[in-house]
Amino acid sequence: MRKKSSNAAPNLLTVSDLRVKFVTPDYSVHAVNNVSFSLKRGEVLSVLGESGSGKSVTLSAIQRLLPENITSVDGSIKINDEEILSMSAKRLNRLRGKQISMIFQEPATSFDPVFSIGQQITECMRHHAGFSLRKANKRALELLDLVRIPSAKDRLNNYPHELSGGMRQRAMIALALSCDPMILLADEPTTALDATVQIQILLLLKDIQQELGLSIIFVTHDIGVAIEIGDRIAVMYGGQIVETGSLSDVIKDPQHPYTKGLLSSTIHANSSGKRLHAIPGSPPNLSTAPMNCSFSERCQFANETCKTTIPENVMLGPERYSRCLRIGAWA
Ligand SMILES: Nc1ncnc2c1ncn2[C@@H]1O[C@H](COP(=O)(O)OP(=O)(O)OP(=O)(O)O)[C@@H](O)[C@H]1O
Ligand SMILES: [Mg+2]
Repeated sequence: MRKKSSNAAPNLLTVSDLRVKFVTPDYSVHAVNNVSFSLKRGEVLSVLGESGSGKSVTLSAIQRLLPENITSVDGSIKINDEEILSMSAKRLNRLRGKQISMIFQEPATSFDPVFSIGQQITECMRHHAGFSLRKANKRALELLDLVRIPSAKDRLNNYPHELSGGMRQRAMIALALSCDPMILLADEPTTALDATVQIQILLLLKDIQQELGLSIIFVTHDIGVAIEIGDRIAVMYGGQIVETGSLSDVIKDPQHPYTKGLLSSTIHANSSGKRLHAIPGSPPNLSTAPMNCSFSERCQFANETCKTTIPENVMLGPERYSRCLRIGAWA
């Protein structure tokens, strides 16, 4: 069994100054701007942000899954000390599935409808981990048990459409775990599910994470979900991480007006009894690189400097920062 993380543990994944831009003759999108974060062994990082804030693009960049013809990617993404952005195609193929694996929001579109669940899980193990068919079949059965799919043997022969949404998401988790990855990237894996099924899947993921000592980046727009699953949290806005830190620090004492706005605009465990307030305005235009604080247009604490200056990350502790020029000027 792998060990749980500690503050002194080395980083498993280190993303530094990541910038992702899409450019076509018709448009350009600065989707990710100077994003830096790290992930330790056995740690769950919740990435929280509204639609279009760059969460999925960040995850795709980590796996080098962005369309090369229209994308420019700068900065650094290291797994252990190995640079992913300059990795050979052969090495990258071994990395995907074997070291880093992904679960998506909608498992129906991730499974191929013409192959059974069992065929798809075993094929993954044979392709990425070089398992024999016999070994892969045995492991597939163990995996369906691990994700608590009842009558696992029969389910292996089912086609994706024959499973309910919740069961399909469990099967998707089994597929993602099939090559024993160190890092799981989860992109809104519970958003499409009913609330009751959503909590079951979250608890399942948490159990498996602790049992296997997995490291997880869990992307969500739901603050309650981010709180439920994360050890640490990174809040994204307009393609940037505007605040990050341990879950308790960020939730109890937010140090960016956007985080504060998010916390008071949604229902979550810490919001009980408090009135909800919407954040006025709309997300920033990403067609140009940031030239000021991207939240300044919507921020009640912004001054002229915020509207003309790009904020740096202000370190508030180890692995804790806020990208706000006016820290301390607001309560
Ligand atoms: N292939 C692409 N080509 C052009 N623009 C893209 C592409 N993929 C994403 N974008 C743009 O990049 C920005 C960030 O998108 P991203 O998918 O990362 O958002 P998100 O935070 O995951 O949002 P959601 O919560 O809706 O999934 C958006 O403006 C999106 O339109
Ligand atoms: Mg997304």
